[in-house]
Amino acid sequence: MDSGLGGLTVLAEALRRMPTENYVYMADTLHVPYGPKSAEEVRHCVLEVVDTMVQTGIDALVVACNTATSIAVDELRARYSFPIVGMEPAVKPAVEMNRATGKRVLVFATQLTLQQPKYYALVSRVDEVGIVDSLPLPELVEYGEALQFDRDVIRAYFRAKLANYDLDRYGIVVLGCTHYVYYAELLREVLPPHIGIVDGNAGTVRRLAALVHRLGIPPGCEGGQVRFLCSGGEPDYLEKMGRALARLRETPRTGF
Ligand code: DGL
Repeated sequence: MDSGLGGLTVLAEALRRMPTENYVYMADTLHVPYGPKSAEEVRHCVLEVVDTMVQTGIDALVVACNTATSIAVDELRARYSFPIVGMEPAVKPAVEMNRATGKRVLVFATQLTLQQPKYYALVSRVDEVGIVDSLPLPELVEYGEALQFDRDVIRAYFRAKLANYDLDRYGIVVLGCTHYVYYAELLREVLPPHIGIVDGNAGTVRRLAALVHRLGIPPGCEGGQVRFLCSGGEPDYLEKMGRALARLRETPRTGF
């Protein structure tokens, strides 16, 4: 699940790694975007979406949204007995990868993720020397929802957002929101070549695959099917999800 189209970047990765499983993907179209909302609002939204998904008979859940995970994953785990994989910005591996270079880490995530105690706890646990900076990119969620892939528009947006950063001092950018992953290639064109880009998608799918294997969850009899749901039930959005997923599957990318 995700607020909207962002989690499809995770689903595309899951389909690459586990092509014979069946998937249900639900977007919370009634409440996207989550980033500018309060924690309590998002908590309600996520519980409602997951309750709907449970009725379809899922064996495991991926909260393919960093914001929803930081707000609701503990409550979801207490509520349900099936395995739940959440996502958090890949700050730990980024800090570890940068240790040798002494460069800084820049984390992009929603404002709500960045405000959560879970994020503070994560950064204070792994960032002993204070090299992590954080930046919300709310417009990038809107671009993702509009499937805005105009190269000039997105590159200009990144340049404006990064104008006040001395990029020589940075070694890694973390994409801590699944909507942002659509724009990794365009960000690559804007960043100096020495800066790496990481996201949590591949790691999340590795955890899911290990769980599926450990629990012996069987593949669907006609494996690899994807069923789309959205909280508003809009037929055009269901069709849009199909298009966005097809685009992601045509352009395989390597995440961290
Ligand atoms: N895709 C989401 C995330 O990973 C949420 C974006 C939003 O709805 O603001 O955080």
